[in-house]
Amino acid sequence: MTTNDEAFARARAVLPGGVNSPVRAYGSVGGVPRSFVSGRGPYVTDVEGREHVDLVGAWGPALLGHAHPAVVDAVQRAAEKGFGFGASTPAESDLAELIKQRVGSELIGKVRLVSTGTEATMTAIRLARGATGRDLVVKFAGHYHGHSDGLLADAGSGIATLGIPGSAGIPAAVAAQTVVIPYNDLNAVRQTFAELGPRIAAVIVEAAAANMGVVPPEPGFNAAIAGIVHENGALLILDEVLTGFRVSASGWWGLEANDYVADLVTYGKVIGGGLPLAALAGRAEIMDLLAPAGPVYQAGTLSGNPIALAAGIATLNSADSSAYRHIDSAATTISNAASDALAAVGVAHSVQHAGNLFSVAFRATPPRNYGEVKAQQAFRYPPFFHAMLDAGVSLPPSVFEAWFVSAAHDDGAINRILDALPGAARAASQASA
Ligand SMILES: Cc1ncc(COP(=O)(O)O)c(C=O)c1O
Repeated sequence: MTTNDEAFARARAVLPGGVNSPVRAYGSVGGVPRSFVSGRGPYVTDVEGREHVDLVGAWGPALLGHAHPAVVDAVQRAAEKGFGFGASTPAESDLAELIKQRVGSELIGKVRLVSTGTEATMTAIRLARGATGRDLVVKFAGHYHGHSDGLLADAGSGIATLGIPGSAGIPAAVAAQTVVIPYNDLNAVRQTFAELGPRIAAVIVEAAAANMGVVPPEPGFNAAIAGIVHENGALLILDEVLTGFRVSASGWWGLEANDYVADLVTYGKVIGGGLPLAALAGRAEIMDLLAPAGPVYQAGTLSGNPIALAAGIATLNSADSSAYRHIDSAATTISNAASDALAAVGVAHSVQHAGNLFSVAFRATPPRNYGEVKAQQAFRYPPFFHAMLDAGVSLPPSVFEAWFVSAAHDDGAINRILDALPGAARAASQASA
C-alpha cells in the first residue's frame, strides 16, 4: 500500500510544492497532505484506504456529493459520443438556457462558456474595459477572483493562506490598473469614485465573500455598489463562481432582495459538476461585444466541452429545492455544533454564514473585512484541523476557506462530524501562538 507520505514525496519530486494548486499543500495547517483516490457521496478515500467525511467538496463543485449516480451516468453517456469537436453543440444552448431560467432574464441576457472561474472573471474584466473604454478595476481586499494578473492584489484563498500580498511576476504597470479597497465599506467605494470615477471600468465583487472565510456583505451593500457604479457609468461584475447555484437555486443574487442588477455575472464550480466549466453572463448588449459578435476577443479550445456540459447540466437538474433545503439544514446543524463545541471549552470564535456556506473565525466578533479576518487567533486552526482529520473528517486546510456541505451529507456523515468536534475544539483551546 502507498502511504500519504510516499504519495506526497513522489509528488514533490515532479510537481512544484507537490501540488497543482497551492492550498492543497497544507501549508497553513502543516503535516502531510492527504492524497485521495476516490470519493462517493459525502466521503473521500485516501491512498491508505482511509475514508474521510469531506467538507471541502472539491472547493465547491461537489454540491450533490461525489460521484452522484445521475452525473456519472450523464458523463458516461456523453463520453460515448465523443470528447469534443471544436464546434458548437446543442448542449451549450441547453446550459445557457438553464442558467437563464434559474437566475432570470433581468440579470442574464447571454452566456459565454469558458473552462475556469479565472477565465470567466478575466474575460469579464476585458469586456468591461471594452464596453466602457476605461482601464481601472476596483476590487475588495480579501476577495479572490482567480489568478489572472490584475486580480491577485490583496486576494483571498491561497494568497491569504500563504500570508502574501500578491504574486511575483505581475508587472507594476498591470498591478497599477487595480484599485483595492476594504470590503463592506461604502465610504471607500464612494471616495474611490470621487477620485477616479471617469477612469473606472468596473467594480468586481464576490457576491458574498467566501475566500477569506465567509464574510457576508452587509445588507444592501451590493445594491449600494450597483447604484454608485451605475451613476458613474461603470459596470458591476458580480462574481458568483463560488456562490452560484450553491447557496440557492439562483445563487447569492437570488437570495438577496434582487433590488439591483449587475452588468456581468461570473459562474464556475457547481455549473461544471466537478468538470472544468465556467461562464460569464450578463446584459445582451454587453455580452454581444464578445467576438465574433463584437470586438472584445476571447476564445477556448475546450470551451463548452460536451462532457463538462453533461456533468454541469445533470448537476443542476438534480439540484432541486429539496437538495438545497437539505444542504441548508445540514450546514446549520454542523455550524451550530462547531460553535457549541468551541464555546464549551471557552474558545473565542464567530461563525459566519452566506446561505449554506460558513466558516469559523477565531475571534469573538464576526469579521467584516480582510483586516478583521487577519486579526484572529489563526494559530488555533491547525490543531483543530488535524484533530478533525484524525477523527476522519477532512476540513478545508486553511482557516481562510469556507466549509462545503453537500446534499449527500446524511445522518451518518453528519454524526461523524458532530462526534469529532468536541475533541477538535479542545485541541484548539490548548493551542498557543
Ligand atoms: C469567487 C471566485 N472567483 C473565481 C475563482 C477562480 O476559479 P477557478 O479556480 O476555477 O479558476 C474562485 C476560485 O476559488 C472563486 O472562489
